[in-house]
Amino acid sequence: MVLMGVSAGKRILLIIGGGIAAYKSLELIRRLRQKGHFVRAVMAEAAQRFITKLSAGSLTGETVYDDLFALTDEAAMGHIELSRDADLVVVAPATADMLAKMAHGLADDLASTLLLATDKKILAAPAMNVRMWLHPATARNAGILRRDGIAFIGPEDGAMACGEFGPGRMSEPEAILAAIEEMLASDTKIPLPAALSGQAANALAGRRVIVTSGPTHEPLDPVRYIGNRSSGKQGHAIAAAAAAAGAEVVLISGPVALADPKGVTAIHVNTALEMLREVEAALPADIFIGAAAVADWRPAEISTAKLKKDTGNGIPLPLAKNPDILATVGRRPKGRPALVAGFAAETEKLLENAQGKLAAKNCDLIVANEVGAESDVLGGDKNKVHILTGQGRESWPLMVKEEVARRLIAKLAGMLN
Ligand code: PMT
Repeated sequence: MVLMGVSAGKRILLIIGGGIAAYKSLELIRRLRQKGHFVRAVMAEAAQRFITKLSAGSLTGETVYDDLFALTDEAAMGHIELSRDADLVVVAPATADMLAKMAHGLADDLASTLLLATDKKILAAPAMNVRMWLHPATARNAGILRRDGIAFIGPEDGAMACGEFGPGRMSEPEAILAAIEEMLASDTKIPLPAALSGQAANALAGRRVIVTSGPTHEPLDPVRYIGNRSSGKQGHAIAAAAAAAGAEVVLISGPVALADPKGVTAIHVNTALEMLREVEAALPADIFIGAAAVADWRPAEISTAKLKKDTGNGIPLPLAKNPDILATVGRRPKGRPALVAGFAAETEKLLENAQGKLAAKNCDLIVANEVGAESDVLGGDKNKVHILTGQGRESWPLMVKEEVARRLIAKLAGMLN
């Protein structure tokens, strides 16, 4: 029986990397076919050490491609055509080697050539030894790919085929299928705004955009600080999307473990006071976007010596209120950016509180996102947001933060122009 999902009948190009998890990609094909999708498989040479073309081909019901130079393949379907014909490209397993090739634009076999040639969205399901995943080179490559808009699922923690334990296991086929369906559904529900597609990719050319990102760290003594779990992924993705739309971008970031996005001027700060100072120095701008999770309070005094724990039942911690950077920019009597956009991170009464912030901070747009125990927004890869403006409200489905960023930039470009 073929079960049709909301996004049934889509064309998936599945690139199978050379790792032990390749066997799971056979189950993924089976599940995709069961949902009514068409699957074309491309196998890296090393993948054929783990599974055969015959098994993949029997499940897809299609030719399985593996050779960049095969004339017969080329006659049947050109390689570029192969990548363009898909609705979504899925790389499972995405090995460390494949991620490295993708991040650096190498194209020395069919799989990597297709990944470089495609203009379609890509979902990668990494699978590798835990040390390979945690290696700074792989972390760097994954960071580059995330900023390029590649979506990731996994890897998961668990026991590995090599006997080690930790992150590196490929996500289960069921979870990959859910991620695929989500990406297909978000695409069909909200087409990419015209402002960022094709020839309009320069929607912010000649414009200056300031973005804040990440947490602030408010020092308590030489070793401790008050902070929060913001990773900077959302703010950095917004800065990258604004740069991709042709803007001159200044990114003012609190302490994060992310590399600076390409093509932006990045300024690194620690505290809210430093962030405000750098924002004011970076003005004027056409658009200001406050995505940082700025600490509302800071220790009123910073101890010059490390606070000792043997001080009885505790230590008093007087706090001083930090300035509100977004409200300061939004309420500027002179030199206010044409558009001021902020975020609202709420654990309850999301829309009500977000609406309050739109007015109180004199913003043109507020991105409301739910944070808290149930939500993975702080630090996670995805975000489900509501966009509030003076004209009303839009609710967007759960998307990778890069996609939220691209759509937000498209929305702001539309409002500005
Ligand atoms: O960094 P990630 O891990 O990717 O997570 C993204 C995010 C959840 C941090 C991001 O999407 C987000 O919601 N950022 C704003 C977090 C926040 O501080 O929300 P808030 O509701 O407390 O503040 C509202 C707005 O005022 C925000 O735009 C904030 O930047 C700004 N603000 C707040 C306090 C302050 N002193 N100065 C400010 O500018």
